[in-house]
Amino acid sequence: MYNMKEAMKQKVMLTEEFLSRELKNCSPQKNLREIMEYAVMNGGKRLRPVFLLAVYELFDQDVTKAVPYAAAMEMIHSYSLVHDDLPCMDNDDLRRGKPTCHKQFSEFGAVLAGDALLNLSMETMLKYADGFPVERALSAMKYITTASGAKGMCAGQMSDMEQSVNDFDSLSMMYSRKTGALLKASVAVGAILGGAKKETVSLLEQYADTIGLMFQIQDDVLDVTSDAQTLGKPILSDEKNQKITFVSEYGLERCRVLLQEYETKAISLLDMVAQSTCNQDAISFLKDLTLFLANRNH
Ligand code: IPE
Ligand code: IPE
Ligand code: MG
Ligand code: MG
Ligand code: MG
Repeated sequence: MYNMKEAMKQKVMLTEEFLSRELKNCSPQKNLREIMEYAVMNGGKRLRPVFLLAVYELFDQDVTKAVPYAAAMEMIHSYSLVHDDLPCMDNDDLRRGKPTCHKQFSEFGAVLAGDALLNLSMETMLKYADGFPVERALSAMKYITTASGAKGMCAGQMSDMEQSVNDFDSLSMMYSRKTGALLKASVAVGAILGGAKKETVSLLEQYADTIGLMFQIQDDVLDVTSDAQTLGKPILSDEKNQKITFVSEYGLERCRVLLQEYETKAISLLDMVAQSTCNQDAISFLKDLTLFLANRNH
């Protein structure tokens, strides 16, 4: 019987056990390894791995094979947070309820641990590529490396730092890069590794575009409506850095309307995806995850 909490717990546990094992032997340099472990094994929600595994499950019930790719997404995401918090970027002191890496260790340690995590993600994907037909593994790696680089996340972070955009379309574009790209890669790679048909991958990509926007808008809303204890990171970080966000430009009310709109659209896209899988429990889980994302408080 499908149970949302159990489905979530299983995917988080598989990912965390794998991450913890890979990180243990990732470097002969103990201090670097310690910062990498601190950056990753620290109570993140693991949304990207959960999405990758949930989508993979639409096509193959045995999700264990896809865990290395799910873990690789979390390594990249965790590195992006370490760098995002640096004094030269958002200059934040708290992450996942603990002092940020540069506060706990050193700025050079945080930079290097971030660099090393990005590389470890590539090492991991290559090391475990033989679990899949070669064209699926290659296509997954191409998707992930492109999404996290100069066409995706790094491009979005650059625009965010430069404060160069403030109209609706360019803000949406910035969000789709800085946050959406990694979420989209997680969803798409789950489908690619699972051997989904092109049309299904494309529907799932549209779904991911929608939840990516929804996710970052909710992140901005929480930055002004939540508290540091619940979030595990400082509130009013965007205001402190005078960031242009959907909240600063359009206000909370409009953001809530948009969140509702994107939620409805995402659910209807999943209804279309449902026609190409026999695993309806996996569809229910993706729907529950979508609602969780839109209404989350941390
Ligand atoms: C926070 O991501 C950073 C953004 C991309 C907005 P998450 O809210 O997924 O953070 P963790 O991984 O749970 O800490
Ligand atoms: C961060 O966006 C996005 C990436 C790390 C790529 P934010 O700067 O809004 O994330 P938080 O609020 O610090 O988690
Ligand atoms: Mg930022
Ligand atoms: Mg930040
Ligand atoms: Mg934020």
